[in-house]
Amino acid sequence: MIEKRGDIFRLDTKDTTYMFRITRHGHPEHIYYGDRLTGTDPEPLIMKHTIQTGSSVMYTEDDPDYCLDTLTLEYSGIGKGDYRHSPAEILMPDSTYVCDFTYDSYVITEGICPPADLPAAYGETDECRTLEIRLSDKACNVRSSLFYTVFPECNIITRRAVLYNDDDRGLRIRKLMSMMLDLNAGPLVLLTLDGGWIRETHKHTRPLQPGIFVNDSTTGASSNRHNPGIILHAPDSGEDHGKAYGFNLIYSGNHYEAVELSSSGTVRVMNGINPHCFDWPLSAGESFETPESVLTYSSDGLNGVSRNFHDFINRHIIRGEYKDKERPVLINSWEAFYFKFSCRKLVRLAGRAAKLGIELFVLDDGWFGDRNDDHAGLGDYSVNLRKLPGGLKRLGRKLSKKGMKFGLWFEPEMVNENSDLFRDHPEFAVRIPGRRSSLGRNQLVLDLCNSEVRDYIVRNVCSVLDSADISYVKWDMNRHTSDMFSVHIPEQGMFFHRYILGLYEILGRIFKARPHILLETCSSGGNRFDLGMLCYSPQIWASDNTDPIERLKIQRGLSYFYPPSTIGAHVSLSPHQQTLRRTPLSTRFNVAGFGVLGYELDLKHLTPAERKEVKQQIGFYKENRILLQYGDFYRFDEMLQNRTNFMTVSKDRTEAVTGNFQILASAAPETEIMPLTGLDPELRYSVKTIPRGLSVKGFGALINHLLPFRIHPDNFILRMIDRFYRMPDCVEEYSAGGDTLMQGIRLNDQFMGTGYNNKVRMIGDFGSNLYKISAEQSAL
Ligand code: DGJ
Repeated sequence: MIEKRGDIFRLDTKDTTYMFRITRHGHPEHIYYGDRLTGTDPEPLIMKHTIQTGSSVMYTEDDPDYCLDTLTLEYSGIGKGDYRHSPAEILMPDSTYVCDFTYDSYVITEGICPPADLPAAYGETDECRTLEIRLSDKACNVRSSLFYTVFPECNIITRRAVLYNDDDRGLRIRKLMSMMLDLNAGPLVLLTLDGGWIRETHKHTRPLQPGIFVNDSTTGASSNRHNPGIILHAPDSGEDHGKAYGFNLIYSGNHYEAVELSSSGTVRVMNGINPHCFDWPLSAGESFETPESVLTYSSDGLNGVSRNFHDFINRHIIRGEYKDKERPVLINSWEAFYFKFSCRKLVRLAGRAAKLGIELFVLDDGWFGDRNDDHAGLGDYSVNLRKLPGGLKRLGRKLSKKGMKFGLWFEPEMVNENSDLFRDHPEFAVRIPGRRSSLGRNQLVLDLCNSEVRDYIVRNVCSVLDSADISYVKWDMNRHTSDMFSVHIPEQGMFFHRYILGLYEILGRIFKARPHILLETCSSGGNRFDLGMLCYSPQIWASDNTDPIERLKIQRGLSYFYPPSTIGAHVSLSPHQQTLRRTPLSTRFNVAGFGVLGYELDLKHLTPAERKEVKQQIGFYKENRILLQYGDFYRFDEMLQNRTNFMTVSKDRTEAVTGNFQILASAAPETEIMPLTGLDPELRYSVKTIPRGLSVKGFGALINHLLPFRIHPDNFILRMIDRFYRMPDCVEEYSAGGDTLMQGIRLNDQFMGTGYNNKVRMIGDFGSNLYKISAEQSAL
């Protein structure tokens, strides 16, 4: 797993090798990260520097070929000849920005060496091992440590850096990255996930060009603008082939990832806390810990990188009672009622939901204080007894009688000016004295740097949680931070990081003591979808956008870094509230089914036929829940702009579900080949469409072509038929070996206006099918 031979450190996972050495002047020099090597001859991989480069600065005059600027390093300083982007900008105790950390010693520990105040990956002593490389500055009494933890089974290495000030004088950290790595792996393409509210995690790629590309967040959270996960891959890599490196960060605040293509063709990559407004004083004897960075490599393309991340998250990030546990199907009150509900309405919705097989009822915003819209109430915790006579306990009892578990929404990090909390404690809000604060969604951020605020939140959330039988919490956070200021920190450059440390403290205090509560975090949808939050919440609400066609992009993007078990995905009404798009109920489920399924609509609006369909959807989801939440998830290269395919394969490769999603129908379409992957080539499988029904009314006057009599499309009888009946769509069945299936299935024709029979797929715009794939018994 971790080996030292002479000056070389070698870190092996199941399929990868990571290697660096300590140079003759004590700098950790990166040698190799890639496919697992069998041999022990690193010489061909080490970069050669046999003559001095022009316009370079010699590290020392007695060794003219040794130049930091052309070395591939594991971490770098400033002011000794490396002019690439530096991971560390420190005002050293001698009041210079020059720092030069060189090797002192190393320590190998069984298991992890976690940071004290930050969430981190965990693992047993037989699952992982940690290497600490101890470095010290040449001029000042300042040390640093680089920690590498190897998780061999998941092909993951985590890294983080710690700075120790042993000098009598103070220093200031302006930038300290968790990880830096100089790759010498040929040309690379950078993949990032970008977006905004209701448009999160859209994938973008660009080939690296000379210069620096920064992916970061400055909103106070990991943000919906740029997710901290990034991938660097070879230009010819695809979803299922080629070399790819993945990086992520276990952090929920302002993050920073920089990628620099240097003039020598090497690629420097780093990630950590964003230096934006960051300035951290470190007095004598103090240390500073950076969040853990997560690295992986795969030669099986982007899906290979994703599988490594997914396994790692399920095994070493998600913790507590919900680790590996099937997540309940929920109904959420938000899009059903927004702020306008009564106990009766809620219980009726719960009753309808229970009949369909839904397991958990989530009461969203609007249950406390004067919160009848988003102008008031945040910060208060008194239950609104007008809406909920008898309080949460009574509601919980009623839900339990319906066979439903009870979940509750909170937004504890925020306060409305129109709230008792703000009237009593205006100083609890983040504000600069003498200046008017900017509002976001009519609210202010609470100052989590203040321990009194943290205690207030913990006390109140806990007392609500203990007042009723609550088994799920949705923890929301609905604005970006502005007017950053706190009197509770020595310096304002500490604000953003101390806020996040405060948040982690609060989450730990509330939920570690209540392991039976399933936490789902949320931030206006996916504004804080990151590994830091996943250390506390096994699932995260991916987006306020539940339009399935938009969700294809959002969930596809998230899937590069996060497994389906963590992605909250709901079925909502059509036409959709944000896009006005009309989509079939089947497609809404077929997309949400590749995440943690929920429903978010007033079920009263469903026709009996739709209710029957939802019941079947939930039945199918529950039967295949382990597969859908914990199977190996695959994306496919976009062969056609117009189609997306998702696939989930069980770990033992005996079962799979694949989704075939059409965006827009085209006239007389080309033969459609549905791609399949991940199956066992040696096994024989049966493949069958999950039956779905078609709305008769959706055909309008065209229905007359199928009926022996003529009928007006808005005829009462037709409307009645539509309420109770669904026309069956074509069901395809195949039986073949895994190797044959993985060549792609040539599907039946789609409807094209020339006739109709039961072998024609009636897909249309935004139509989709799920197919269940099962190894045949005789083959097992
Ligand atoms: C934003 C969330 O993303 C929604 O799901 C909902 O909980 C609202 N906040 C409630 O205010």
